[in-house]
Amino acid sequence: MAEIIGAIATSHVPAIGKAIADKRQDEPYWKPFFAGFDYVRQWLGRERPDVIVFFYNDHGLNFFLDKMPTFAVGAAAEYKNEDEGWGLPVTRSFPGDPEFSWHVIESLVADEFDIVTCQEMLVDHAVAIPMSLYWPGAAQWPVKIIPVSINTVQHPLPSAARCFKLGRSVGRAIESYGKDLKVVVSGTGGLSHQLDGARAGFINKEFDLLCLEKIVNEPEALLRYSNEELVKLAGTQGVEFLNWLAMRGALTGQVSQLHRNYHIPISNTAAATLVLDHRKHVQRKAA
Ligand code: DHB
Ligand code: FE
Repeated sequence: MAEIIGAIATSHVPAIGKAIADKRQDEPYWKPFFAGFDYVRQWLGRERPDVIVFFYNDHGLNFFLDKMPTFAVGAAAEYKNEDEGWGLPVTRSFPGDPEFSWHVIESLVADEFDIVTCQEMLVDHAVAIPMSLYWPGAAQWPVKIIPVSINTVQHPLPSAARCFKLGRSVGRAIESYGKDLKVVVSGTGGLSHQLDGARAGFINKEFDLLCLEKIVNEPEALLRYSNEELVKLAGTQGVEFLNWLAMRGALTGQVSQLHRNYHIPISNTAAATLVLDHRKHVQRKAA
C-alpha cells in the first residue's frame, strides 16, 4: 500500500525563483531562507519519496477569476510550468501519475467532494518554486506529482475546516492506494503576507508562530478561524495557510516536527518551512 512518510510546508514567493536563477542563495538577504532547506534536502535524499501531493493555490495561470474552482485535482501525465507574469524562468515539466490521481479523485468524489478534474493543468510558482527548493538543479525530477489546487484567491474561499477535511480525504485516498509508494504531502504559500491595499507589507509574527506551533500537534485548534479572521490576522494572501491545513489534514498517524525555519521578510512575506514526520502504524524499516 502507499504510505505517507511525512510532510513539507513552505512559502512559495516568486522572488525565490529569481534568486535561484541569479545564484544569490548565499547573499546575506537570502541565506537565512535558503539555509533552512539544507535539512529538507537531506531528509528527501534519505527518504526518497516516489510521489508528492501538492496542496497549493493557482495565481491566475491555470485558473483565472472568471472560472475559479474551489478544489481542483490534476490527472495528467505531465504538468507544464509557465510564468504567470513574474518574469521567472520556466521550470521543466513535472511528471504526473494519472492512475494514482484518478484513485484520489474517485475517493474524493465518494467522500462527497465535488472537485474539478484536470487532465491538462499548468502549474505556477506555487509548485515550481517548492520543487526547485526540494531538488535544486536536479537533472530529472525524482518524483511524480499530484497537484491539488485550493482557491485561496477569489472569495468566497473554502473554510479552514473544509480544507482540513479535504486533506483528510486525500490522506485516506493515498493510504488506500494498492501500490507500494512512499508519498510526501506538501502545502505551499503563507505565512502572513499582504501584497496590496492599505495594509500592503503586513506581517504578523505572533500569529505565524502560533500557527507553526499548533499545526504540529493541535491543528484542530486552528480550524475555528473564519477566512475573514484569517485575512485580518495573516493578511489577504496569508490565507494561503489553508494549503498548509489541507496538508496537515492528510496526516492521521503520529506526527512530529523534524525541522522548522521562520524568517522575515522574503519579499513581502514571512517565509516559513516545516518538515513533519508521519508514522501510521509500525516503525518503518530502515531503507
Ligand atoms: C509574494 C508572495 C506570494 O505568496 C505570492 O504568491 C506572490 C508574491 C511576495 O511576497 O512577493
Ligand atoms: Fe502565493
